[in-house]
Amino acid sequence: TKPIGIGLLGCGVVGSGVALALALNQETLAERLGATIKIRRIAVKDLMRPRGPHVNHDLLCDDWRMVVNDKNVDVVVEVMGGIEPAKSAITLALEAGKDVVTANKELMATHGETLHALAERMGRTLLCEGSVLGGVPAIHALGTYFVANRIAGIRGIVNGTNNFILSKMEEAGQGFIDALAEAKQLGYAEADPTMDVYGFDALYKLRILSRLAFDVEITSQVDLAGVTDVSSEDIAFARDLGCRIRHVAEARLDRETGMLLATVGPQFVPQGDPLYHISGADNFLEVIGDIVGRIGLSGPGAGALPTASAVVEDIVKVVQGSEFRLRASRKVDAEALQYVNYVVR
Ligand code: HSE
Repeated sequence: TKPIGIGLLGCGVVGSGVALALALNQETLAERLGATIKIRRIAVKDLMRPRGPHVNHDLLCDDWRMVVNDKNVDVVVEVMGGIEPAKSAITLALEAGKDVVTANKELMATHGETLHALAERMGRTLLCEGSVLGGVPAIHALGTYFVANRIAGIRGIVNGTNNFILSKMEEAGQGFIDALAEAKQLGYAEADPTMDVYGFDALYKLRILSRLAFDVEITSQVDLAGVTDVSSEDIAFARDLGCRIRHVAEARLDRETGMLLATVGPQFVPQGDPLYHISGADNFLEVIGDIVGRIGLSGPGAGALPTASAVVEDIVKVVQGSEFRLRASRKVDAEALQYVNYVVR
């Protein structure tokens, strides 16, 4: 059978991780899918930058249109990040009848509904597991499970960089700047790490997760804080109280008023809280269902291979033709809870 052609848009930390993941498990994937997966073309900004041994340099080009228009490309995998040209590229790919897998949280948080609607109109699949919680199958869980439940709330640690920084400051007494430099070097931080440390990345993820959990689109700005104001004194103070500081994103739907209560910011979490035990770049998501109670998902939340794993899982789903609804049907205004500096639970 004809190989399944992949067109990669972007070949940074995640893109080269995808190339590596596909190479490492090539045979297993071929066996399971009954077809091989082949990267046909890769669009990058800088043709000269070294990309690692598993990236075939002959496939590189510096024009995303060449990837989208390549007739041997069946699935476009967008891992370049940012709104443009990612939005145009995904739009054109769907219009050209290709399926799309993306790990772009900023784009999916802000234009996800429009893009999902387009995919639906075109009869194509658009999946974005890699956009939230790295390798943890949070989108799959929220998109396919909890049908028997009404979700009362979601809460978690959704940014690996911030959790890594807080863990390092706490365990190794490291300063913020050094911890961030290490997070960058390990491939956890965004190309622009202000997205992580000021909390925007977590907010994007909360928007994507809220769409799935509550079937609503957050339409107004949620108050948010990052980790830049957390000092070593705060960390010591938390420890004295038997707590840890964690960067927490949470949303709760008030079904009577239809308001979504959402916050993103550092909190003191006590030892009994599952968030207390999440360290390094790991992520955690707690889903509270009215029938089932609390369910927790945790695992590696950032970095090349965990995110690549989520992207390749999506490619497999596209190939197998399994699909689930990712669109929100209602729009609500998010009520931004007044951000309380540290919430002690
Ligand atoms: N910069 C992100 C994080 C990468 O640290 O969580 C994974 O989305």
